[in-house]
Amino acid sequence: MSLSFTITGQTRIVGIFGDPITHTRSPAMQNAAFRARGLPYIYVPLLVRSPDLRHAVQAIRAYNLVGVNVTVPHKERIVRYLDALSAEADLCGAVNTVINCEGTLLGDNTDGRGFLVSLQERGFSPHRREVVIVGAGGSTRAVLVSLIRAGTERITIANRTLTKAQSLVRAYRTLGKTQLEAVSLDKLQDPLLLKNSALVINCTSVGLHGEPFLPLAFDATPRNCLFYDLLYRPELTSFLRQARNARRAGVDGRRMLLHQGALAFSLWTRQPAPLEVMTRALNRALRTPS
Ligand code: ATR
Repeated sequence: MSLSFTITGQTRIVGIFGDPITHTRSPAMQNAAFRARGLPYIYVPLLVRSPDLRHAVQAIRAYNLVGVNVTVPHKERIVRYLDALSAEADLCGAVNTVINCEGTLLGDNTDGRGFLVSLQERGFSPHRREVVIVGAGGSTRAVLVSLIRAGTERITIANRTLTKAQSLVRAYRTLGKTQLEAVSLDKLQDPLLLKNSALVINCTSVGLHGEPFLPLAFDATPRNCLFYDLLYRPELTSFLRQARNARRAGVDGRRMLLHQGALAFSLWTRQPAPLEVMTRALNRALRTPS
């Protein structure tokens, strides 16, 4: 990556905390955005081991960083070290963006909002629709909160470990009017579950290594059902390939990755994100092996 601006005494730092961190594509996307807006900011990967997280958070203040992104495995645990949380971060119990407001550290979570923006750009509104989510891990939580807040009618969460889906249902049952249900994975073959689904989302890691997706009755969904894979690798995931074979439309996780990053950019800079520039930088970065 070439950095076509000079680092000077004015340069400010934005970081991303994670472990591992070498795979992250966010530096390419954010540095391209900073350059496009002429901002004297630089975005750097910071390998933070779990025992060092508290000190790393203190360093945000000590080095007067603009803020940081937070990725696996720190999104949940960082919450306890911050000064305040946005409503969304509080509801998810997870933070992906920290903003340094003159030493006060605010935690936000742009994952769910990024997901919703990526649906909007497809012309899809979840309001009063039925949705199936496969998976019940950290990414499900952000997607679930955003869908409930957007007025989704009904959400079924299917997960290998049923108890994890059930605890999500318990945790968010009263957040909105959305009906929530937890089911086991075999239900994904039941046409009754899928016949009114407007959106089916893969929040699992199944397909990351090119393996086939879980048994799911793609054909039982309505013709205009949208399939959304939070994975963005391989380029065509098995979930989206199987959706395509059933002649259903699909979206992959790079749009969510883009929009969560664009929202974070605006939180740090108070400027609209240069989406085109970020899209190109992200696509370029995803084509390069990590
Ligand atoms: P993330 O933060 O990306 O959501 P995670 O919290 O590790 O990641 O969650 C991974 C999800 O993928 C979980 O729902 C997991 O199911 P379990 O809760 O039963 O572990 C799901 N998952 C991973 N591998 C799977 C597989 N081979 N079959 C079915 N589900 C799988």
